[in-house]
Amino acid sequence: MNILVTGGAGYIGTHTCVALLEAGNSVIVADNLCNSTAESIEKVKQITNKELTFYQMDVTDAEKVEAIFSKHKIDGVIHFAGLKAVGESVVKPLTYYYNNIISTMILTKYCQKYGVNRFVFSSSATVYGDNTVPFIETMDLLPTTNPYGETKAMSERILTDIAKANPEFSVAILRYFNPVGAHESGLIGEAPNGIPNNLMPYVSQVAKGKFEKLRVFGNDYPTIDGTGVRDYIHVLDLAEGHVAALDHLKNGVHVYNLGTGQGTSVLELVKAFEEANGIDIPYEIVERRPGDIASCYADASKANRELGWTARRDIIAMCRDAWRFEKNYKDLVESK
Ligand code: NAD
Ligand code: UD1
Repeated sequence: MNILVTGGAGYIGTHTCVALLEAGNSVIVADNLCNSTAESIEKVKQITNKELTFYQMDVTDAEKVEAIFSKHKIDGVIHFAGLKAVGESVVKPLTYYYNNIISTMILTKYCQKYGVNRFVFSSSATVYGDNTVPFIETMDLLPTTNPYGETKAMSERILTDIAKANPEFSVAILRYFNPVGAHESGLIGEAPNGIPNNLMPYVSQVAKGKFEKLRVFGNDYPTIDGTGVRDYIHVLDLAEGHVAALDHLKNGVHVYNLGTGQGTSVLELVKAFEEANGIDIPYEIVERRPGDIASCYADASKANRELGWTARRDIIAMCRDAWRFEKNYKDLVESK
């Protein structure tokens, strides 16, 4: 298939481009590089030894989006392009609503105009809010606490209504849990700017000596050891989930959790990282982070049942691959 991948230069997008190319698809990437670099596209080519088409462009630009649909015969769209920093979304709500909602509306408009009936959307477990674990697709969604989460919940509703009105349209809404890790080559991975918000990149940077210690946000949650529990999923498993979703798309809207179904606490992740990489991670317990929930993990059985997909890589592999990229990334940057 010929797949348009928006946001294909980003963290999850690059890994998915690798999986798509390796599965024999052709790939067209549209990315404005607001949170990535063109070099990541070169790395995808290097890993797969295959070519792809890259457009540096904004997917809120209707004319440019239409130019792609009119030039290429597209079989499906995977829509990753979006802004994703929760804290920033509170400070710049309009930027987030505009970017994340308008992009979805423009892409679906041209899908309809050009008869492209396969659409895969990047949603997030954040749409469940503070629900009872494990989170299952049939749950009523609870309010999210920030504009970023709202953009995901709203995009889900927009896509659902479009599919209701257009019986030919097939949409897979993929709710990601916590993507971590990197490609085994160490060439692509997650490289956040500035101080990382998320646990795995922060732990990797403590390992590298960039920070003295990890601050563990609270140890008084009702969890196994009092620290927050999350469902970490290897980004390569997540990428393979997209290929499976595209291959199995049926008419209508289908929501899938992409997680492992396994909860891991902050301290369990620290221990796994130490074991996987033989590096001590010093930490201190500090106050809870506002807006955090105690536990978030998936019931991942629907994706297994309907897509034949299941996450295969364990927490040790996630920690090993995250660290390999962190080390390698430093080398790549310093060698320039
Ligand atoms: P990322 O920032 O690495 O990738 C997003 C890409 O989209 C970037 O390359 C960025 O340059 C591009 N982009 C943003 N706005 C654009 C626009 N208007 N036009 C063209 N390109 C644009 O993020 P990621 O972690 O790879 O996330 C991909 C998607 O998955 C996002 O929609 C994100 O909200 C969603 N998601 C991510 C996580 C996570 O923890 N990483 C969890 C749940 C959902
Ligand atoms: C974050 C996002 C969420 C997104 C999810 C998936 C925020 C506030 N939320 O949430 O919207 O859907 O990622 O990628 O960014 N922790 C520490 N110390 C740290 C960092 C994190 O103890 O320095 C703890 C957190 O309290 C939490 C766990 O580690 O219990 C995971 O945190 P994080 O990686 O930020 O992910 P989420 O909280 O799930």
